[in-house]
Amino acid sequence: MDEAWAAVEAVKTASVKDLFADEPDRLERLALDEAGIHFDFSKTHLSRDALAAFIRLAEAADFAGRRDALFAGEIVNPTEGRAAEHSAERGEGAPESVARARKLHQRMRTLIDAVEAEAFGPVEHIIHIGIGGSALGPELLLDTLGRAGAGYDVAIVSNVDGAALEEAALAFDPHATLLVIASKTFTTSEAMLNARSALDWMRDHGVTDPLGRTVALTAAPDKALAFGIDETRILPFAETVGGRFSLWSSIGLPAAAALGWDAFESLLEGAAAMDRHFRLALPERNVPLIAAFVDRYYANVRGAGTRAVFAYDERLRLLPTYLQQLEMESNGKSVRLDGSPVGRTAAPVTWGGVGTDAQHAVFQLLHQGTQLVPVEFVASLEPGNELDPEHHRQLLINCFAQGAALMAGRDAADPHRAYPGDRPSTTILLDRIDPRTLGALLAFYEHRTFANAVLLRINPFDQFGVELGKEMANALDSQSALDFDPSTEALIARAFGDVE
Ligand code: F6P
Repeated sequence: MDEAWAAVEAVKTASVKDLFADEPDRLERLALDEAGIHFDFSKTHLSRDALAAFIRLAEAADFAGRRDALFAGEIVNPTEGRAAEHSAERGEGAPESVARARKLHQRMRTLIDAVEAEAFGPVEHIIHIGIGGSALGPELLLDTLGRAGAGYDVAIVSNVDGAALEEAALAFDPHATLLVIASKTFTTSEAMLNARSALDWMRDHGVTDPLGRTVALTAAPDKALAFGIDETRILPFAETVGGRFSLWSSIGLPAAAALGWDAFESLLEGAAAMDRHFRLALPERNVPLIAAFVDRYYANVRGAGTRAVFAYDERLRLLPTYLQQLEMESNGKSVRLDGSPVGRTAAPVTWGGVGTDAQHAVFQLLHQGTQLVPVEFVASLEPGNELDPEHHRQLLINCFAQGAALMAGRDAADPHRAYPGDRPSTTILLDRIDPRTLGALLAFYEHRTFANAVLLRINPFDQFGVELGKEMANALDSQSALDFDPSTEALIARAFGDVE
């Protein structure tokens, strides 16, 4: 494996401009269409030789074996002794896991029908309480697909800051609100406090049985039961579905309710199409794997510490935030599966924004700054608005021009006006933004994250790095261990006074 890395590092790469001149079939090889999405990697430094070296690296890392293990439902998350079965939620996985997911989806559908039939009283609004993976996925789905109109007003309340819940409560009628508590563990302190406060809000406004209007989405049904939620309104998903991979499970309920079941099913189908591609395509045509090669090249060969994603579409404005959790919580690790140091940059910092806004804010650094930042543009051929088509034309023109300018650069006698150029970008162009294509796009990102982890030999499915902060907050909360550093102690004293 070390030899394979050395071979990757030893590949001499020309500028992207020269690569286009040297490799006439570059577009044909590196601009690939899959599941309604065009992926153009040709403006990166992935030369024919670099690609070949990365394919050998993937072989040395037993990429095919690890991928088979993922889809077979084998334990690919050994630190927690679990499989990672998000693909089974879309029908691609071990037969018994697929069957279990189908049953869950049937129950989701029945519950949505019951809500529509006013079995729990009138429902116009949904407050979805959850944080991290229990919020970001549904929020992205609703923000991306719900703009043309949704069956319910949905507020996603994640932050423990009461302002988040207050905002939702002010906008909604408690007598016409369904409360959804989404938490894989059903112990996350933010979700539990928000859930209790939301129930209080309903009660305070005269709702006689708020728990009777509450649904739980969780992998810990016993805890939801103990919380007081009736088992008919608990939708348990599998422990093997990780939080940041869970929007395909019952965590997607508010989106499925508001957007309609057909939309949710199309989302799953789109993701399944990408699953099949990832599982079956040869390495040189395998889009998530090639994307991971590009990620590894810039992080490990060229020393890039970040990667930037710009959605050239308002509907995808939450995509960078969603990807931050997916990529940084999964691969933000320093040790390999066997516990040894990973020894190279694992996850670069994912950041980004929306085009064209970002052009007028952060693109200065991309064009002329000292850091190399691989950029990813995500856009749609079809517009998401009914205004003059000139808006969408301008949006795409700007998107393409930025990629071209980053690559081309410009010489100038005045150094302030010179652009070094040869700055890489990938363009992801969706035929349209609909549930199916969005499903495929999100599954692409999931598999790319997994492929990166395979090349690094790390476990992308645990997240122990979030525990210490939680433990310290608990210690402070219960005042059980007040031996913090002087700075923290002073902050505590300033906020809460001296505590014995
Ligand atoms: O603290 C991180 C984390 O565990 C994420 O991985 C997860 O998505 C989020 O918290 C919420 O967890 P839960 O769904 O168990 O409330």
